[in-house]
Amino acid sequence: CRYQKPMPYRLATPQLARCVAAGLVRRKGISPDIPGHVAGAGGCGGGGRMERFDVVVLGAGAAGMMAAIEAGRRGRRVLVVEQAAAPGEKIRISGGGRCNFTNLGIAADRFLSQNPRFALSALKRFTEWDFIARIDRAGIGWHEKTLGQLFCDGSATQVVAMLRADMAAAGVVLWLGCSPGEVAHDGSGFTVATPRGMVRGTSLVVATGGKSIPKLGSAFGYRIAERFGLRLLETRPGLVPLSFAPQELAWMQPLAGVALPVRASAGKVAFEEAALFTHRGLSGPAVLQISSYWREGMPIALNLLPGQDALALLQAEKTAYGRQAVRTVLARHLPERLARHLDEVSGLSGPLAEQSMAKLTGLAALLSNWHLMPVGSEGYRTAEVTLGGVDTDGLDARTMMARAMPGLFFIGEVVDVTGWLGGYNFQWAWSSGWAAGQVA
Ligand code: FDA
Repeated sequence: CRYQKPMPYRLATPQLARCVAAGLVRRKGISPDIPGHVAGAGGCGGGGRMERFDVVVLGAGAAGMMAAIEAGRRGRRVLVVEQAAAPGEKIRISGGGRCNFTNLGIAADRFLSQNPRFALSALKRFTEWDFIARIDRAGIGWHEKTLGQLFCDGSATQVVAMLRADMAAAGVVLWLGCSPGEVAHDGSGFTVATPRGMVRGTSLVVATGGKSIPKLGSAFGYRIAERFGLRLLETRPGLVPLSFAPQELAWMQPLAGVALPVRASAGKVAFEEAALFTHRGLSGPAVLQISSYWREGMPIALNLLPGQDALALLQAEKTAYGRQAVRTVLARHLPERLARHLDEVSGLSGPLAEQSMAKLTGLAALLSNWHLMPVGSEGYRTAEVTLGGVDTDGLDARTMMARAMPGLFFIGEVVDVTGWLGGYNFQWAWSSGWAAGQVA
């Protein structure tokens, strides 16, 4: 698939040029309809005209594009309104540029929500294998990295290009660089004010994502939910590095760059993956995962020797290398800088052979259950997702439609469904977008 860049304003289609000449399109930065897509009935819109569609989708992210494709394939006239200059910006930057587009271990317990079973219907009807089939059909190579996480062999832009091509083939109209204003309902449909004029749809699909990464995030969808009387659950950053008080940072900063496999836990939840010390605190997959469960005032615990009995290991080391210093022994199992720090924390001096059983037990407890007290997180600035959002109680699990407002749909991250790290969030976006696209 070729990545098709939005046409710059000056390279407009003849149709757009006519609109410019007629003074209908004036604003810099507003892109024309994307070539290859069916243009709106009113061409460029603008002025006092109302353009009519069957479905208006707000947001051309993963969920919005999927919903638009599905509705378009059903013969619905679909408009996607996107504020950014390009669709799928989070897809483009995801997975280190390779997009971890799904996971082979999709299951209800890998999603956080006030109603963890809500996501199941959509996830079962459009599964990870359904998305993989699309990736295969588009000729995009992929591989499993770890823990069922599937990444593109090449680039995340291939996924964006695939979705754009599918939208074009389904006749979806895409307006880029277009921030919608007021949204209203008049009994038989929804009107949305846009810089290109008013648009009307019998269905409105809200796919504006969450607040994470302020440059790309948005609270617009939450405001629409409130406007139509849906309940919002408190939002907070998820999959985010944890931060620490200055006295902790003083010893953590010299460890910046140290990474190791750990079992990280917060309350009853634990993840066995890598942790990474940074200049600002703790990161790495294990820490990002528990950050979604962590709450202020809660300690986290790190097991630095996951899957091993720390005391048995120290006793074996004492037998084999009793003359060695504690630090030397620790450095055989842990990164050297961390071993040095733990040696200082434990306060054990002298060779291992001289350490009493009580001291070895204390050291083993430090290695297997190291308690740390985060003071917060790095917030939406670096969070991968937003927890909370539109309460699923107000939505139909099969269609994503608001129970109290027929024709209004919420999909993707704006909904109170948040996946683990590892492709779960994109699968939720594909599945919920697909579900809405069958009926919108
Ligand atoms: P998404 O945010 O993708 O799309 C919302 C769209 O709506 C955006 O295009 C936005 O510009 C637009 N919009 C917002 N407000 C608007 C308005 N008022 N008017 C018009 N348009 C508006 N997940 C995963 O499964 N695997 C991964 O590898 C990664 N990696 C990753 C890396 C980074 C850095 C981040 C920040 C996030 C991830 N994620 C991830 C999470 C994943 O990106 C996220 O869950 C999905 O993009 C959510 O899809 P949505 O379509 O719901 O929102």
